[in-house]
Amino acid sequence: FKIPAIENEPMRSFAPGSEERQALEAALAQMQQELPFEVPCIVNGKEVKTGKLAKQPIPADHARHLCEYHEADAATVASAIDGALAAKAEWESMPWNDRAAIFLKAADLVSKKYRYKLLAATIIGQGKNAWQAEIDAAAELADFFRFGVKFVEELYSQQPSKNSAGAWNRVEYRALEGFVLAVSPFNFTAIGGNLPGTPALVGNTVVWKPSPAATYSNYIVYQILAEAGVPPGVIQFVPGPPPEVVEQCISHPSFAALHFTGSTFVFKKLWKDIASNLDKYRGYPRIVGETGGKNFHVVHKSAEIQNAVLQTIRGAYEYQGQKCSALSRLYVSSSVWNGGFKDLLLQEISKIKVGAPWDFANFMGPVIGRPAYDKITGYIQKAKEAGGEVLIGGTGDDSKGYFVKPTVILTKDPKSITMREEIFGPVITAYVFEDSDFDKTLELIDSTTEYALTGAIFASDRKALISATNKLRNAAGNVYYNEKCTGAVVGQQPFGGARGSGTNDKAGSISIFYRFVSARSIKENF
Ligand code: ALA
Repeated sequence: FKIPAIENEPMRSFAPGSEERQALEAALAQMQQELPFEVPCIVNGKEVKTGKLAKQPIPADHARHLCEYHEADAATVASAIDGALAAKAEWESMPWNDRAAIFLKAADLVSKKYRYKLLAATIIGQGKNAWQAEIDAAAELADFFRFGVKFVEELYSQQPSKNSAGAWNRVEYRALEGFVLAVSPFNFTAIGGNLPGTPALVGNTVVWKPSPAATYSNYIVYQILAEAGVPPGVIQFVPGPPPEVVEQCISHPSFAALHFTGSTFVFKKLWKDIASNLDKYRGYPRIVGETGGKNFHVVHKSAEIQNAVLQTIRGAYEYQGQKCSALSRLYVSSSVWNGGFKDLLLQEISKIKVGAPWDFANFMGPVIGRPAYDKITGYIQKAKEAGGEVLIGGTGDDSKGYFVKPTVILTKDPKSITMREEIFGPVITAYVFEDSDFDKTLELIDSTTEYALTGAIFASDRKALISATNKLRNAAGNVYYNEKCTGAVVGQQPFGGARGSGTNDKAGSISIFYRFVSARSIKENF
């Protein structure tokens, strides 16, 4: 059989008065009326209510919460692991076309039946505006499931190119021995689906710990997968206190892999913890992680100013800069900066509306929570103490929700703290270089931080693009010419970075599926 042709999920534009705008407004109104919801753990397809309750606050209105969820306790995690191990043989041996059909159906459920509910949960719970939620919880989520099927089909068809006379060589792609732990972040509902979904597609069973700040949208994702036909036990939904759930999983002898998206700090800690447990395991666990970034735009003297400004604003402030790919270091050639870039940038930023994400007039919503708010405003303070000049923004308002204004800091020190460390908020630090120092600036970009996730080069001079591409060879896993450094599309720009940004296994491509299979070569003589 052949799987159907796969296309990227078309995106809605929510034009005022359109049917899709009305549908989303209705879903938002309904969710606002019905919240808060109760979310259980799901183990072996059954709800588990531990009674240990935690809240997912609404970032734009922190007096309210979207859901109250039952945190997994040690007994729940233990039964999730046992259940995942018990479910594995049947899941792995299910014919591939049936596993494929389940994920294709899940994509259709995202696209049709649950689209507006997923969007509403992502808007209210994670603070995305409608368009940012659409990119994520509708389009990217459906794409991960659909393209995943296409990639796995390609993977399974990778076979040895030679057979000797009288023999047939073949390769079988087995699921890993044991269970996979998926630990997903708050900032993309789609990653909530992808982290357990990718290993499950190739026959693994997964214990999934969603982010506390995305519990409700991720619970809907779980329900979609179950409705699509993922059998009980194959994906275990265990929201819980992060260290406990994660530690219990990685200290289990049948732990086979970690599929992680989150901070560099946590990922390094987990890697060390896994290493210290190595003698317990039967094999070497696979460790796949996508972590932080300190992403750059570099604007050459030949750049087209209007486009560079627009892309800079989008790269830095969409979803309040809370994408691992978001722009945070801006390097601009002095003739461009003084020749209109700075004025246009500040003029456009001054028009940005910040407020409740369910109000379609707002380009920016809140940051995710109290620790994020304190960290971001703390960095603005540190930048000022280090001699940075706040050109615009620089303040926040946490009285009702966690709102931070879009901020530009100008620095004369290209190695100052906000040029090096990840802030994960709507703050960029700009450094203006002499037109003649382009090559020197590229070296600076390469050497300033531990991260290497995304970057963009703005130039109409081809030589500048070539020089930047060569000099920044290892400074980013995703590079864009004359376009913002965010917004990789599944199946189009495989996503991920190296150095401190992760294992660069490229989400949204065939590459990542290799990490969750263990190949077996079979030679048969006739
Ligand atoms: N894949 C997301 C982006 O590229 C994080 O912005």
